[in-house]
This record gives sequence, C-alpha cells and structure tokens, in this order.
Amino acid sequence: MKKNIVVMGAGGHAKVCIELLRTMGENVACCIGGPDSPPTCLYLPVLKGDENLALLRSQGYSRLFIAIGSNKIRGRLGALALEQGYQLINAISPHAVISPSARLGFGVAVMAGVVINAETRIGHLSIINTSASVDHDCQIGQVVHIAPQCALSGNVAVGNYSFLGIGSKVIPDVNIGENVMIGAGSVVISHIETGVTAMGVPAKRVILHP
Ligand SMILES: CC(C)(COP(=O)(O)OP(=O)(O)OC[C@H]1O[C@@H](n2cnc3c(N)ncnc32)[C@H](O)[C@@H]1OP(=O)(O)O)[C@@H](O)C(=O)NCCC(=O)NCCS
Repeated sequence: MKKNIVVMGAGGHAKVCIELLRTMGENVACCIGGPDSPPTCLYLPVLKGDENLALLRSQGYSRLFIAIGSNKIRGRLGALALEQGYQLINAISPHAVISPSARLGFGVAVMAGVVINAETRIGHLSIINTSASVDHDCQIGQVVHIAPQCALSGNVAVGNYSFLGIGSKVIPDVNIGENVMIGAGSVVISHIETGVTAMGVPAKRVILHP
C-alpha cells in the first residue's frame, strides 16, 4: 500500500490543502482534476477525470484528501471514494487551535488561524476555512463549508451541506438547517430553515434569481 496522499481537486482550495498537508509532514503524490484543470498544481501532476480515482486505488493508493470547495461535489466524490475503499484523511493546520474536547469526523479541512472551542463537533468532509472561529458546543454537520473569517458563537448548529459565506457571524444558540446558503458578511440572529438562502445584517431569507 502506498503512503503518499492523493488530492482530489486542482484549484486554489487544493493549493492551500496541499501546502497544509505538507506542513503536517505528509507527501502528496498527485492531484485529480477535471477536464479544464491545469496540467500541474503546485508542481504536482494533475490527472484529469474522476476515473483516475479507481485507477490510483488499483495501483495501491489508499489515502485521499478531497480538496474541493463545492459541498455538492465534495459530498459526491467523498461517497465515491469510500465505496472504492479509500481512507479520507484530515488536513489540519498546525496553526489552528482545536480544543481537546472537540470532535472531528474524517475528510475534514481545518485551515490556519482557525479556533475550534470546547465540545464542538465537526462532521465528515466539512471545511473550516482560514481564520474562522467555531466556539463551544457547536454542532457542524457533514459536508459543510464555513468560509474564511466566519465567527460562530457558542451552541450554534449548522446542518449538512450548508455554506456560510466569508466573514459571516452567528449569534449563540442559533440553528441553521441543511443546504442553507448564508451570504458573505451576514449576521445571523435567528434560526434559518433548511434549504434557505439568507443574507444581510441581520440575515434575512431571500429568493435569488427567481
Ligand atoms: C449570496 C451569494 C452566493 C449570491 O450570489 P449571486 O447569486 O451571484 O447573487 P448576485 O451577485 O446576483 O446578487 C443578487 C442580489 O443579492 C445581493 N447580495 C449578494 N450577496 C450579498 C451579501 N453577501 N449580502 C447582502 N446582499 C447580497 C446583491 O447586491 C444583489 O442585490 P440586488 O438584486 O438588489 O442588486 C454571493 O453574493 C455570496 O455572498 N457568496 C459568498 C462567497 C464566499 O464567501 N465565498 C468564500 C469562498 S472560500
């Protein structure tokens, strides 16, 4: 079995994840990208097409990190990779501060400058992006993306596949449902139902491009 990691994704988010994996002392073998990906990503070869996942598995690779910002695509590829027997590893920056009582799933990215406080749970395949803070007792679901500079107060819940745009803030004890989109810079002061897009200060439900 090969120890080197395969990175799924070859864009900007993948670059950050590759450097993060390297700071963890890991070696990345190559990236898997789409048809329009560049031929290399941070000097690593980019294999084009999802079919390379199965090919690399047959060649003995078993450790994978999915470095794709889109929740929908990350979730789909995560399921595919698990079916093929990959281990989805975590990419955790040594410059993040994570409470010893926090619990993280697999396939999680935690970028530099992040703070995750006591008894918070982060679900599989979620991204806690650069300098975000997730305070005590938060429940972050699976395949969630908390963008850079977000601040979640204590006891906030975020449902599976939700996305919090850059710099958004959430006051304590708020529940955000599944598949929610919170616009950049919003301040969430009340519960947000599943499937809703909300934005602004305070964040209000909107219907974009009806
Ligand atoms: C919410 C969002 C997804 C909407 O994008 P969109 O569908 O392309 O929407 P548009 O840019 O066409 O804007 C639609 C309307 O919403 C308003 N709007 C868009 N984003 C807003 C925001 N974050 N806060 C307040 N209003 C916003 C626009 O001003 C526009 O208003 P108008 O119709 O009165 O002119 C996007 O603006 C956003 O905030 N994305 C977050 C990106 C991010 O944080 N990425 C992090 C990557 S790590």
